[in-house]
Amino acid sequence: MPRTPETVYFEGASVFDACILAQFDLCQRLENLADSLPFKVDTRAAAILAKQLQSTLRRCHRLEETIIFPLLLKKDTKIHTVLDRLRHEHQEDEDHARDIQESIQAFVTAAHKEDAERLGYMLRCMFIPLRRHLAFECDYVMPFLLPTASQ
Ligand SMILES: [Fe+2]
Repeated sequence: MPRTPETVYFEGASVFDACILAQFDLCQRLENLADSLPFKVDTRAAAILAKQLQSTLRRCHRLEETIIFPLLLKKDTKIHTVLDRLRHEHQEDEDHARDIQESIQAFVTAAHKEDAERLGYMLRCMFIPLRRHLAFECDYVMPFLLPTASQ
């Protein structure tokens, strides 16, 4: 069965939605870790989060940038400045995620937990802007992929 433009955009919206949900899940897990510092940390969950953080972000960002952004540009070329900003935020988040991964791994393996305050600050500096980025994508970018009421 041939794929219509509507089908392509609908599939794009599904991919985008899955990416956004996966990243909101990361935000919740980062916040849970921050709230559990310094003595109530689930070290196993923290180690899993550290391992998944960068790879999940990279996978979502690549899907957004290679599948979703080109679809958006086909609909409206004026959106390119917005997409450039989102791409820049993706890179910042991936850089920050690398530092956080190392800090979480160091924290869960350390006998003394002196760096809890620093780690908590780093975690909040990750999930608060990431939630803002995701909210923008949900509220502003996602509607470009969905059919309007008149279609
Ligand atoms: Fe994004």
